[in-house]
Amino acid sequence: MSLIENIAGFVNLQTVLVLLVVLLMTYVYVTRPRNLPPGPWGWPIVGNLYTLSKGNIHLTLSKWRKKYGAIVFFKIGTLGTVCLNDYDVIKEAYVRRSDMFGNRPTNLRIVNQLINQKGIIFAPLGPHWWEQRQFAVASLGFGSLRINERILEEAATMQAELLKTKGKPFNIRRMLQQASTNVVCYMVFGKRWDYTNQTFQNIMQSLDVVFRTSVFFLPENVFPYVPGFLKRGDKVNVEKVLQLVRDEVKEHKETFNRDNIRDFIDSFLLEMQNQTDLDGSTFTERQLEMTVFDLFNAGTETVSTTMWWACLLMILNPDVQNKVQEEIGQVLGRDSRPSMAYRSQMPYTTATVAEIQRYGAVSPIGLPHAVPRDTEFYGYIIPKDTIVFAGQWSVHHDPELFPEPDMFDPERFLDDEGNFKNIEYFMPFSMGPRSCMGQPLAEVQLFLLFTNLMQNFKLKLPEGAAKPSSEGVMGITLAPKPFDLVAIPRD
Ligand code: HEM
Repeated sequence: MSLIENIAGFVNLQTVLVLLVVLLMTYVYVTRPRNLPPGPWGWPIVGNLYTLSKGNIHLTLSKWRKKYGAIVFFKIGTLGTVCLNDYDVIKEAYVRRSDMFGNRPTNLRIVNQLINQKGIIFAPLGPHWWEQRQFAVASLGFGSLRINERILEEAATMQAELLKTKGKPFNIRRMLQQASTNVVCYMVFGKRWDYTNQTFQNIMQSLDVVFRTSVFFLPENVFPYVPGFLKRGDKVNVEKVLQLVRDEVKEHKETFNRDNIRDFIDSFLLEMQNQTDLDGSTFTERQLEMTVFDLFNAGTETVSTTMWWACLLMILNPDVQNKVQEEIGQVLGRDSRPSMAYRSQMPYTTATVAEIQRYGAVSPIGLPHAVPRDTEFYGYIIPKDTIVFAGQWSVHHDPELFPEPDMFDPERFLDDEGNFKNIEYFMPFSMGPRSCMGQPLAEVQLFLLFTNLMQNFKLKLPEGAAKPSSEGVMGITLAPKPFDLVAIPRD
């Protein structure tokens, strides 16, 4: 018997497999860069994907914070990822060292395939991103009377729709989505849709599917051949929204008149014509499509989901709802329309909106950032291309910063004289140059929509219904679990 045959007699398939796994793990351990931040053990190739797939990601990250500290390293498959879970640490990265931490990842396969670094949200840090961001802010005209008027019109349409429910239980989610989406449609496409329009309804459904998926944590971001995403609903739905955008751009090109600029698409088309350096210009049709796509995604879901939290928290906290309505009664009465001009006279309502944003934390880990090269951070090495998330939920629920964080308490945003007080650690829009571009618009929408709703309706749990959960469901955003309410018109 030869030596090989002798060995083969002892070794069976199981032993070979065990040996292979041990070798692979030793390889992963030995090649793991030294001095990484602490974090959970990750399996070779799949990293921590399994743990991340088992429940709400922001809660998993918050648990890891307790175990490993403010800077936690883990892996989305083979992609090194860091979550920053402490206010000062996030500020250090996103504000003071934004040149290093203000970039976006290019190694998330799905995002790259769909967006290819165009638009604003996933554009690499640099002059092109800045040019596009500045252009969008200037042309969208946030805060203008025209936009505020449009928000109030949507609030009035929603009011009429709510009256039609005649005090019967219903899910308010779709109405909120329609109102906030129409505001963006008006700015970008120059028109609003009727709530019954089928195209509009389809888009709402598509946005729902996309935002309820934790896109950044899907295995398909790492493994090209996972059957799934390419055929799954998510991609089809992203394509549907993109198609709508393309159709709108086409229609605008056909009817474009440089003496009558109707909306954001027209402003962009005009800028395309005005550019002299055609080869170097970032004002291209592909860029236009992706920017509009960004505005659609970033600007609709976040506002409507915050308003959904508002409704949930008002039915769970009727005392707060009463106080808000008392203040609205004193300042606006029954007939004056809400306006930003009244906000300074309405500290309790302003504090309630802030507390809704703190508690709900609709963007609980923000959007992914990335570091372009190896960098030293708090004594650790963050390797090149590491994906970075900021644990906004962890900050908003940190008992050192917000005592009794699980309690819904607008008074934490009031000073001793009852004036609204900003809390430094409140960061719903993130921080630094990459923070939310639409913050001014979002603040106006939330205040006007919420005030109008509270002025006209008492929101209640349906008779005999169980109390809905105040724990959210994580996708790209954190949304309440679906619930029914009744909207009783106020006399
Ligand atoms: C309650 C509403 C909103 C919340 C909570 C919110 C939150 C955020 C957050 C957390 C980010 C990520 C920042 C980062 O990466 O550090 C972001 C980015 C962004 N948001 Fe918002 N947002 C809201 C509404 C809007 C609206 C209404 C628009 C525009 C119509 C908008 C446009 C954007 C854009 C374009 C970015 C990417 C900025 C960049 O990469 O330079 N957002 N938002």
